[in-house]
Amino acid sequence: MVDQQPRDTLDLKRCPIRTLRLYTGPLDCLLQGLVMTARIDLRSDTVTQPTQAMRRTMADAEVGDDVMGEDHSVNRLEAISAERCGMEGAVFVPSGTQGNLAAMMAHCGRGEEVILGHDAHTYINEGGGIAVLGGVQPQVLEMDARGQMDLEAVVAAIKPDDPHHAVTRLLAQENTHHGAVVSREYLADAAALARRHGLGHHLDGARVFNASVAENIEVGEILRYFDSVSFCLSKGLGAPVGSVVCGPRELMKRVRRWRKVLGGGMRQAGILAAAGIHALEHHVARLADDHARARAMAEALENLDGLSVRYTGTNMLFVTPPRERVAAIVEALADEGVTVKAAPTLRLVTHLDVPDEAVAVVRRGFERGLAAGAA
Ligand SMILES: Cc1ncc(COP(=O)(O)O)c(C=O)c1O
Repeated sequence: MVDQQPRDTLDLKRCPIRTLRLYTGPLDCLLQGLVMTARIDLRSDTVTQPTQAMRRTMADAEVGDDVMGEDHSVNRLEAISAERCGMEGAVFVPSGTQGNLAAMMAHCGRGEEVILGHDAHTYINEGGGIAVLGGVQPQVLEMDARGQMDLEAVVAAIKPDDPHHAVTRLLAQENTHHGAVVSREYLADAAALARRHGLGHHLDGARVFNASVAENIEVGEILRYFDSVSFCLSKGLGAPVGSVVCGPRELMKRVRRWRKVLGGGMRQAGILAAAGIHALEHHVARLADDHARARAMAEALENLDGLSVRYTGTNMLFVTPPRERVAAIVEALADEGVTVKAAPTLRLVTHLDVPDEAVAVVRRGFERGLAAGAA
């Protein structure tokens, strides 16, 4: 069964009054429009609110002390995750950042290194944790918009056994990468390379379920190319908190140890794990709806004059307006109740709380912004 957010909690105070003044259509459309203007947050899929069903599951969760291994709900989430990912074990962690860090620290010791892309979240958006806390050297290589590094460059970056060099231990990837599904052919080649050179292969799979749904395959079909993965429950899957690291049993023992060292040992964490279980059981297949909405949004915008629109195949699209129109577009979108991150390129991310009707509202915001910017 798929949850839908209840739409009966509309806060009228938050609706821009302008919409009411301009409106001339039927009443049900007005009400729907009001819900829409109340809130369309496209900044990220991290902004999802737990559904009522998820909240009920959390309230009823059976809990214990997870650091002592006694939280039934965490144990269940870990078992379900390992099984889904086709891996031996799993560890529930508070965030994707900690999941990647604990996994990379489990693969690499101090003075060792990981090869990763220059635009990888683990490199640019996780506070340099692998270097700061792990003593792990990032060997950064150019990666393209499809999330791929040149595999010959990867081989060339592997250090010879020489005390001058850090010891190369790990190759890390990201899938999806800015919403793009990384080709399985590339992943298979990268996995073979890692095996040939005795490297571990880790996936920042914050949105790997988006990739599996887009490819219409089980997530295990992607993860068979990896030794470990960290996937997020708190993005498109709609849980309020949490990620899961999966991998071989021995590696997971080290991840569990690093989780404790990093301050991620939580006690009655089953309340959060219950949300994760609910997300895995009810919110995976529905990611296809987010993808369809992102595609529809891209199609609705691509014929507007002056916009360059890139849809990346899952729940993200990137829209580049003429520079001088960006501010007016952001303002018009805000006036329509749509929140986006302001930048030369706007990233629009669909998720559980973005219904079909958002497509028309977003198009209207862009139209108004383009027209205002042109005036
Ligand atoms: C690709 C990717 N990996 C990892 C993370 C980190 O997740 P968290 O915010 O839970 O630390 C994010 C967060 O947005 C992400 O986009």
